[in-house]
Amino acid sequence: MLAYLDHQATTPCDPAVVAAMAPWWTEQFANPASRLHRPGLLAAAAVDQARAQVLGQLGLAGHDPADAEVIFTSGATEANNLALKGLAEAELAAGGSRRQLVTLATEHRAVLDPLRYLARHGFRLSELPVGGDGLVDLDQLEAALGPDTLVVSVMAANNEIGVLQPLAAIGALCRQRGIPFHCDGAQAVGHLALKPAELGIDLLSLSAHKFYGPKGIGALAISRPLTLAPQLHGGGQQGGLRAGTLPVPLIVGLAAALNLAQADRLEREQRLGALRDQLWQGLEALGGIGLNGAASPRLAHNLNVCVGGVEGGALHRALRRQLAVSGGSACSSGEPSHVLAALGLSRLEAAASIRFGLGRATTAAEIGQAIEAVAGALSQLRGPRG
Ligand SMILES: Cc1ncc(COP(=O)(O)O)c(C=O)c1O
Repeated sequence: MLAYLDHQATTPCDPAVVAAMAPWWTEQFANPASRLHRPGLLAAAAVDQARAQVLGQLGLAGHDPADAEVIFTSGATEANNLALKGLAEAELAAGGSRRQLVTLATEHRAVLDPLRYLARHGFRLSELPVGGDGLVDLDQLEAALGPDTLVVSVMAANNEIGVLQPLAAIGALCRQRGIPFHCDGAQAVGHLALKPAELGIDLLSLSAHKFYGPKGIGALAISRPLTLAPQLHGGGQQGGLRAGTLPVPLIVGLAAALNLAQADRLEREQRLGALRDQLWQGLEALGGIGLNGAASPRLAHNLNVCVGGVEGGALHRALRRQLAVSGGSACSSGEPSHVLAALGLSRLEAAASIRFGLGRATTAAEIGQAIEAVAGALSQLRGPRG
């Protein structure tokens, strides 16, 4: 049996979430913008309820509705684009002079690419390096900030190496200077207790399929009044900020998944942290395997290791019948990992790295299978030991 250990790429949609979505596909299919009939009003109420639940789970429920908002998007990619390009275009439209964008070299491409796009259109991008542990240097970040800094964008949890950036400290630096702080929370929401307002995060991106919800739905949570330029123009839905018919089943699914993920979060974190540690101990004992990124602070369900003395392609070919794992980001289209490069790994080391992402259904037997599979691959590729 193949052990699926690629939960940073995506998670299965929980059956309870599928059940919560079911009536909204078929029986209650009305458009929530149809305000003149009861089915439309019921659909609008379901969206409102889901939005309230998301705000509640993010600790934004008590905030003034004019300040805290949730904009539903197709995922974290779109949420990141709305936050970053939305801020930049709003600055231009207002005749503002802030042009500097600050981020980390290890961000997901869904942050780096919109920022690089803006850098080709009159903005200035500072991509800060990280330490060998994958963490930001706060002094370096502080030194990079200036009067024309428009936004700081730093992810909560890295999608390849799972390390957690010091969000509260970054939030404080931004708040002191009145700089908007955007955080890509795609790998953290539903896995950590992320309360954006408490951390000084103004804009938080999330994606439901990373926390056992459906694919194709995400959100940008906004925790203080900020002007964003819409990136999709059309029917004026969501206050004109993101046009397009609201996908009610997906929105209901996102909220249901977030509620479920928060309900079993601590239990999951403990259980998967113990399994992950077991996996690391087993792999370390094989010899010549190093950990990529800080051991802590790190997502409990992530492990990323570099396997010495083997060629990456051969390693992954040897594993793929038994393990569904990743070499780096699932979205990096075969290029060497820019995250592992930023930690100082060579191309060969990055290629011979394995990302393990544990999930809700991961068992101790699968962890044993993973250790066995790597041991088998090593004896095949390095030759029998001893
Ligand atoms: C950190 C991070 N940001 C953004 C994304 C993009 O999410 P989506 O593909 O759901 O838009 C991902 C997904 O891989 C991610 O891990």
